[in-house]
Amino acid sequence: MLGNRDLLVQIFLNLIKNACEAVPKESGEITLTTSYRHGMRVAVAGSRERLHLPLQVTVQDNGPGIPEDLRANLFEPFVTTKINGSGLGLAFVAKTIADHGGVIEVDSVARRTIFRLTFPITDEPTPRRVRRRAATDLERAL
Ligand SMILES: Nc1ncnc2c1ncn2[C@@H]1O[C@H](COP(=O)(O)OP(=O)(O)OP(=O)(O)O)[C@@H](O)[C@H]1O
Ligand SMILES: [Mg+2]
Repeated sequence: MLGNRDLLVQIFLNLIKNACEAVPKESGEITLTTSYRHGMRVAVAGSRERLHLPLQVTVQDNGPGIPEDLRANLFEPFVTTKINGSGLGLAFVAKTIADHGGVIEVDSVARRTIFRLTFPITDEPTPRRVRRRAATDLERAL
């Protein structure tokens, strides 16, 4: 996969940080998985196009789950339940995944929250304008 390495690292740091903050102190479990799913195709609304998103990474934790009232706006900026939270973590994650042509989904019930990320594989380098835009967004978010 071609992408911006630093931004991709930041995505996973944000997701793992959230998981660390959510899990119980003594019995916390965070599981990361990676897989390659050859046939994975996603329909694009309003088009016949199918996106090929074979790379999947999941970040799972056994915390209490995403609060119900946050779910609709989870990936919007400034959504937080933490005293010192900026609420920018997941907004950055969602934007950066989209800039890489990927998709993020979340599945959350008590003791089982999974963020599932899927990415395309491409031989084309990430366009320079995407790299530049993503870097600017990161600077703003930090
Ligand atoms: N794994 C998770 N389990 C439970 N709730 C979560 C999880 N990840 C995110 N959340 C909820 O979503 C909110 C938004 O997360 P986000 O990462 O965008 O901001 P934050 O963690 O509050 O602040 P920051 O990332 O800037 O430190 C969190 O405040 C928390 O309520
Ligand atoms: Mg966070």
